[in-house]
Amino acid sequence: MTTNNGTAPYPVGLRRPELAGVLTRSRGSFEDILERSELIVELIGGIEPARDYVLRAMRAGRHVVTANKQLLSQCGDELWQAAHEANVQLRFEAAVAGVVPVVRVLQESLAGAHVERIHGIVNGTTNFILTEMARTGMSYQEALAQAQRLGYAEADPSDDVNGKDAAAKMAILARLAFGVPVRLEHVRYEGIEHITPDDLAYARELGLGLKLIGTAERIDDGLSVRVHPAFLYAGHPLASVAGPFNAVTVESGAITEVTMSGPGAGGPQTATAVLGDVISAMIPPPSVAVTVEPLNLVEDVESAFYLHMEVVDRPGVLAQIAQLLGIQGASIKSVVQRGLGDQARLVMVLHPLLESRLFAACELIGALEVVRSPPRAIRVIEEEFV
Ligand SMILES: NC(=O)c1ccc[n+]([C@@H]2O[C@H](COP(=O)([O-])OP(=O)(O)OC[C@H]3O[C@@H](n4cnc5c(N)ncnc54)[C@H](OP(=O)(O)O)[C@@H]3O)[C@@H](O)[C@H]2O)c1
Repeated sequence: MTTNNGTAPYPVGLRRPELAGVLTRSRGSFEDILERSELIVELIGGIEPARDYVLRAMRAGRHVVTANKQLLSQCGDELWQAAHEANVQLRFEAAVAGVVPVVRVLQESLAGAHVERIHGIVNGTTNFILTEMARTGMSYQEALAQAQRLGYAEADPSDDVNGKDAAAKMAILARLAFGVPVRLEHVRYEGIEHITPDDLAYARELGLGLKLIGTAERIDDGLSVRVHPAFLYAGHPLASVAGPFNAVTVESGAITEVTMSGPGAGGPQTATAVLGDVISAMIPPPSVAVTVEPLNLVEDVESAFYLHMEVVDRPGVLAQIAQLLGIQGASIKSVVQRGLGDQARLVMVLHPLLESRLFAACELIGALEVVRSPPRAIRVIEEEFV
């Protein structure tokens, strides 16, 4: 991009961007474009050659705008360092939650807030699938096929449905919110492939809705960043985010919570976010984010849980299970039991406990002779803000 003195719609005093050249696999020369540009927009995706081009552009003193979450979440240290050393801007609003301005809000508007926690629905494909499963009762496979027909899922949806795409975005948000060098490899993630229509139907009875939630939170002196399916009560701001929309909730003592939502992908939406970054780069910059604090990851975190299991329908079974839960310090908040001939389906919500203790309890319960299918555990987020 080069710039000229502009006319509307660019504010008075700002310059108007002009295209210096386009590089694809079959046309254009990176060196020519670099020579004639003040700013480079990288929309290739993946690691190489995007990494090489972005680093060369910044080291040559060019600002960079990118939508590349893979690159930022895996090579962020190197990229921010290069931007810092060359005193250029690295902008990436479209890399997380599409046109929803969460990056800018964390970097600028909430720079003075001591962020405690971020929850995000940052993958539109999985949110669409879960919304359709809950709305129609269709299976995961049917909802995925529908998402592919409507263009909300790619032909190979693996990184969306297994949680990896959301994990990359949460690594970027965690770095911004907490100023620590979080990379994709630090984020534990789990997808939605194992979710059944039953889970959604029972959850509805318990007043819960299911989302694929990314979480980044301070725990004591450490940080936990993770992505997994989680149930939400209706009062949580993310509970009503439906279809392919994205949303991010930022929590801090000073601000209670701020939620931003909107389209998380799509051509015009992503292009709008990219162009916004280009225009912002022409304005004198906010300080370049350089991470200074060491990273202290917390592996074992507390959560409430939903448990779903098939058991023999005979007296004393619930008591046996409750006893094993009790040994691990788990207490039951609500239970739904449904008879299925000589078996029963037991669905319960537990009060918060450490994940390690819940998984230990599940192993003990799974080994009981009266348990026909081992418990399936899904986290429940308990906060409601209304
Ligand atoms: N699509 C969205 O809704 C969306 C939303 C948010 C973020 N993003 C991010 O935006 C980036 C691009 O996504 P996309 O969906 O637009 O991908 P895409 O449709 O595959 O487009 C990629 C472009 O990069 C070019 N390219 C690929 N390899 C290249 C190489 N080695 N040298 C030069 N050019 C190369 C391709 O050229 P050819 O035309 O010659 O193949 C194509 O024009 C990714 O980082 C993605 O994560 C996309």
